[in-house]
Order: sequence, then structure tokens, then C-alpha cells
Amino acid sequence: MTQKARNEDSIAGPVAERLLDWYDRHRRVMPWRAKAGETPDPYHVWLSEIMLQQTTVATVKSYFLKFLELWPTVEDLAAAPQDDVLTAWAGLGYYARARNLHKCAQLVANDLAGRFPNTEKDLLNLPGVGRYTAAAISSIAFDTRSVVVDGNVERVMARLFDSHAELPKEKGEFYRLAGLCTPDLRPGDYAQAVMDLGATICTPKNPKCTLCPLVDLCQGKPHAESLPRKAPKKTKPVRRGYAFWLERRDGTILLCKRPDKGLLGGMVGFPGSEWTEDSLPPAPNTVPIPVTNLTEISGMVRHTFTHFHLELSLFKGDVVQDRYEHLPEKHFWARPEEFGDHALPTVMRKAADLAIDALKGEE
Ligand code: ADE
Repeated sequence: MTQKARNEDSIAGPVAERLLDWYDRHRRVMPWRAKAGETPDPYHVWLSEIMLQQTTVATVKSYFLKFLELWPTVEDLAAAPQDDVLTAWAGLGYYARARNLHKCAQLVANDLAGRFPNTEKDLLNLPGVGRYTAAAISSIAFDTRSVVVDGNVERVMARLFDSHAELPKEKGEFYRLAGLCTPDLRPGDYAQAVMDLGATICTPKNPKCTLCPLVDLCQGKPHAESLPRKAPKKTKPVRRGYAFWLERRDGTILLCKRPDKGLLGGMVGFPGSEWTEDSLPPAPNTVPIPVTNLTEISGMVRHTFTHFHLELSLFKGDVVQDRYEHLPEKHFWARPEEFGDHALPTVMRKAADLAIDALKGEE
């Protein structure tokens, strides 16, 4: 055994017991978490872990409770129309997650008799379940030892072992270090303990080292805030586009459902242009129905997606025929008060807020 391996083992050795002891006293209460002594429900664990990808615990809570109220079992979720699932998901972002969630529920309900697989390998075959989620579900729902690595775990490991490995290219190193610490007993509680420690004590800025149960083991403490090392973020390009707020005299607004594939697939929004990095063609070209008085609404909707920043201009117009009979495919009318019944993503909610605000000022 090398000196490095001996050092790592002496750091890793006490970690699980310390963290489990800390977790027994400080575990966060979350609606999807089994209480001490209770058996976790795999459907709850899976649903919460899919929602928690890229989204904070605080945001997920109300969505999780809403989903359970609408669909108490995986069979209920499987049987729901996809539009209802997307509507309930609206605002959580990364909408491919919602489409995969629904597909996964159908697979589990229809092909697996409603039972989630209990091994990482079988979990990895489910739609929307990647390396992290498979490990999280197998350990939290089934208490099977799996090495669970998310952003919190990477931060805790980088600091504990003073690892200068750079993310994302050396992710494997964090799996190795996390593997040294993961116990055979209570792996589910252990996984959640590291995540809770990362979220509440070993935070990116101002870590609360004095409260940390691992403080005396921690090799990176003197420069904790600089760990883990991360490759500089790529700057995102700006795309521009416009959307139309087309209102009938009865107060309904034209909406359209986006194609199932691609960004915001299957979600609902205002008709408009493509979003491009080039300069835009003049707005009237793409109006889907005859309108008059097309004018720009002052202000701009800004929204950041994974790969670009969007600047969306809004145009309003008066619909020529009040009872417009020949709507293009996938277009429909809805009152602003009914937007909550449709799957409007956050960017379209922002557009609606801007239009409603601007037009209120005109009355
Ligand atoms: N983040 C993602 N999953 C989590 C969990 N089960 N507990 C705490 N934080 C989490």
C-alpha cells in the first residue's frame, strides 16, 4: 500500500460513522424522505430524485407534493395524459425530465408490475435515470450500497481529501474518493447525510467548518472555498427572437403547443419566431393568423437556458376575425387566468407577465 493510499484510508475510515451520527441528529425533514425507522417508498424516492436534478430542495417541495396529490402511485402517473404531466411540471425547467419521467412511470407500471428495479444496473435502463440517479435510488430506496456523487458530494470529497482534481473532466476521481467513504451499513442514510452536509455545512461559500463533524479530518479546510476546482464556464451566446400576444375581443390569447422534440418539447407558449444568433427578419412575417396594429410591447423578456441567453421581444396585435375558424395546427385560445391549466414554461410566464403589465398601463 502506498503512503497516499494509507493517508486516504485514515481519512476515509471514520467518515461514515461520524456522518451517520450527525445525520441522526440533524437530518433535514423533506416530504419525500422516510422518517427514522420508516421504509422509504421507491416511487417517492425516484420522483424526488428526478425533480432534484438541477433544481433546489426549496423549489422541489411544492412540486413533489402536488405530484403526489395528483398521482399517488406510479400507476396513476403512468395513466395520466402527457399534457397533464407537463402542466404540473411547468416552472421546474429541463422539460425533457418530465417527458422521461412519464415514460419511466409507464415502463415501471406496465412492464415491471409497478415495482422499481432495486439494482443500479437495472435502474440505469430506465428513461431519465443516469449514473447519479440510479445510485441515489438504489441506496436511498433499497439501502443497497452504491456510490452516490452529486455536486454536494464532490465538494465534500474535494475538501476532505484536499483533492485538486478538476471538474468536470476528473469526475472519476470524486467517485473513487466517495467510494472510499461509502459504508456497507445504512448506505441510504449515508448518501443523504453527505448531501445534507454539503447543502448546510460544507457550502460553496462561507462553509461552517466549526459545526462540521469531519473538521478534524478535513485536509482542504484552509482553502475550502477554492475547492472543488472547476474548469472556467463557457460564455453563453445570446439568441434573439420574438413572440406574439394576439388577443381576441373576448380577452382570449393565442397559444400554441411546441413540437414534442427539442427545447421545451411539448410545452405551450405564444406563437413567434425561431430563436437565433443572427439578426431577425421583420416580425410580421411569421404571424400565424391575420392581425392588425402589430406593435412592439416595450420591454424585453430575458431568460437563460442551459446553452444560451434568450432575449425575446413581444409584439401585440388585434385579431382580424373575432371568431377565427382556421387556426393553424396546435394553436388554441385561452384566457390569461387559464394559463395555469396549460404547460407554460417559465420563459412564457415571463412573457405573459410583461404583456399583461404593459397592456394594463395602456388602459
Ligand atoms: N439532493 C438530491 N437528492 C437529495 C436527497 N435525497 N437528500 C438531500 N439532498 C438531495
